[in-house]
Amino acid sequence: MKIKRVVVTGAAGQIAYSLLFRIANGDLFGLNQPVALHLLDVALHEKTLEGVKMELDDCAFPLIQEVKIGSDPEEIFGGADTFFLVGAKPRGPGMERKDLLQDNAKIFVEQGKALNRVASKEARILVVGNPCNTNCLIAMHHAPNIPKSHFFSMTRLDQNRAQHQLSIKANVGLEEVSCVTIWGNHSATQVPDFVNAKIQGKKATDVILDRKWLEGDFVSKIQKRGAEVINARGKSSAASAANAALGAMRSLIEPTKAGDWFSMGVYSHKNPYGIQDDLVFSFACVSKGLGDAEIVKGLEIDPFLKAKIAITEKELLEERDLVAHLLR
Ligand code: NAD
Ligand code: LMR
Repeated sequence: MKIKRVVVTGAAGQIAYSLLFRIANGDLFGLNQPVALHLLDVALHEKTLEGVKMELDDCAFPLIQEVKIGSDPEEIFGGADTFFLVGAKPRGPGMERKDLLQDNAKIFVEQGKALNRVASKEARILVVGNPCNTNCLIAMHHAPNIPKSHFFSMTRLDQNRAQHQLSIKANVGLEEVSCVTIWGNHSATQVPDFVNAKIQGKKATDVILDRKWLEGDFVSKIQKRGAEVINARGKSSAASAANAALGAMRSLIEPTKAGDWFSMGVYSHKNPYGIQDDLVFSFACVSKGLGDAEIVKGLEIDPFLKAKIAITEKELLEERDLVAHLLR
């Protein structure tokens, strides 16, 4: 069987320390698919990266055929088909994710260019490093050889958080909560959608009758969950982010279950909800399992959702303005 070559950037960091071992264990492509790991971090963290490779070797994972490490994006990206762009600075207490743009945006200029030079047109690229929507926009802009529809930004962690909160409130199992959408930015303006979510196949609003909770505590809990984790742990989410990254990539390579969908930041061009063009915006999506994500049409946008979606769209436009010099 042909080896799948997977790039993880920020490979000496926290998220990677969970993500790599799960990919190596078969949690991405299954237990029959051999994998090569291509690991990128900055030269300063070369020693840590060597240590990570030693540990991967010492696990003796049967699926792992090769572990390549380095700090040159072109060297590491070459020949790979699946990309997790994680490497970027995380925020600390009191910061918003967009405060990271100043430091992180340039990483995605460099890596977009490297993708353009050496990656296959068939590559699928998931941007995790924050602020992930705008970083994803930057990377795709600098990689015109790769279709924009192959770039994604991660709102899966928010989806998972929302699913969990709805299941607790409704007192049902997690698997009974479906069709959870996160609209917009992976930020404090994101819109966790309870209007179109389902619980036991019924409208979530017919099961959870406490509209005040849905519009209030539920929405703000999901919007601020990242900060809540940072305040508790002193560091940003890592294992749950790695788990979400795997879930997001699997959503692209496995057909979506009938009647369900997943949330993903995708290029907004010609979207069916009138969101401005040339943004990376999270929508409800379905996939045929061929690395594609098609936006689900016809969802109900009630006045509450409409107002909230306008706010998150405005924030993404502001972020894009802040990096306009990098998009020329
Ligand atoms: P971390 O600081 O533990 O690790 C980041 C790693 O990236 C470091 O090893 C650093 O050296 C490396 N790095 C920096 N610049 C790089 C470059 N140019 N090329 C390659 N590697 C580079 O941080 P972490 O906790 O792993 O988080 C990584 C990013 O993911 C942060 O921006 C964080 O905010 C973001 N994040 C996103 C989500 C999401 O849901 N989208 C969730 C959690 C974290
Ligand atoms: C998260 O949602 O946990 C991450 O984006 C990290 C953060 O800065 O909140």
